[in-house]
Amino acid sequence: MYSELLEFLVCPKCKHALHLTIDEGKDDEIITGTVFCNDNHRFQIRNGVVDFNSVEQEFANNWSELHKEYENDYDKVDQEIQSRMPELLKQQQKLVIEKFKDFLIKQKPNFVLDIATGRGDLIRALLEDTDPNINYICTDLSYDVLMYDRLKLKKRYPNKRINFIACDASNLPIRNNSMDAVISFYGIANMADKTVGGIKDAKRVLKKNASLLNSVMYVEENSEAQKIIEESFKEYGINGFSFFTEPNIRDTYKEGSFPQMTIEVVAEGIGEYNELDLVPVEGHWYALAIIDSKK
Ligand SMILES: C[S@@+](CC[C@H](N)C(=O)[O-])C[C@H]1O[C@@H](n2cnc3c(N)ncnc32)[C@H](O)[C@@H]1O
Ligand SMILES: [Zn+2]
Repeated sequence: MYSELLEFLVCPKCKHALHLTIDEGKDDEIITGTVFCNDNHRFQIRNGVVDFNSVEQEFANNWSELHKEYENDYDKVDQEIQSRMPELLKQQQKLVIEKFKDFLIKQKPNFVLDIATGRGDLIRALLEDTDPNINYICTDLSYDVLMYDRLKLKKRYPNKRINFIACDASNLPIRNNSMDAVISFYGIANMADKTVGGIKDAKRVLKKNASLLNSVMYVEENSEAQKIIEESFKEYGINGFSFFTEPNIRDTYKEGSFPQMTIEVVAEGIGEYNELDLVPVEGHWYALAIIDSKK
């Protein structure tokens, strides 16, 4: 964590400001320490990551298990996931990432919050090609995945002051009206039953007139593909939730009090065999779209 993050942080339990004690620092970065509020809610900074004690999802994205399986060889995890992704989808995802770059180049934001950074596909590409003065704040439920993101990015960009926060994006430890942009590359789309909360909270932390740029993948309404996805969620015990068709997505944004949005389809195709994700569904139409919603 870098000290400039502190003014943006609030306690996720009581929303009061946080104070900082530093136990260990290196090159201006706080590696070990504590953030705490006046109600004495305390959270550790470990390996440079502020840990708000969020717990990984049970049904997907179990990063700590996967890292264990690969003996903490995070580069191998990345390679493995890349090699299993259908080739067409890989190309299409690059087009989506280009849209994020264009957006940031146009908007020139100062502080940008990345919701659900995961293994950091988006952030890596952005660091390569966007304004070096942008301050990125990476978030994820998984402390583990952020810890490795930090190491990966440190190796490549040793001088960048990137902040990492392990937290639940439906209850961000971030001040109201403070972010110049919030971005999410299939992060909000992965929040399952917390999606509405994620949209609401992204809006809360944005400054007025600032945008949430969010990429989504969807299938045709009332199609077999929609049924297949919904059934899978039911199997995981997640009911009454859908964010996989355009009308569903619009409704979810309305529910999240963020009705003003534009959806741009960036790519479409027919799903190939895909062992990694529920969408695209093999043999069924899908679209990759980017949603811009301005506060
Ligand atoms: C597909 S990954 C996102 C990809 C990522 N944005 C990238 O650029 O590589 C989905 C991520 O969402 C995270 N996630 C799911 N629910 C979340 C929540 N409520 N708060 C924060 N992160 C969440 C998961 O831990 C997982 O890392
Ligand atoms: Zn507190």
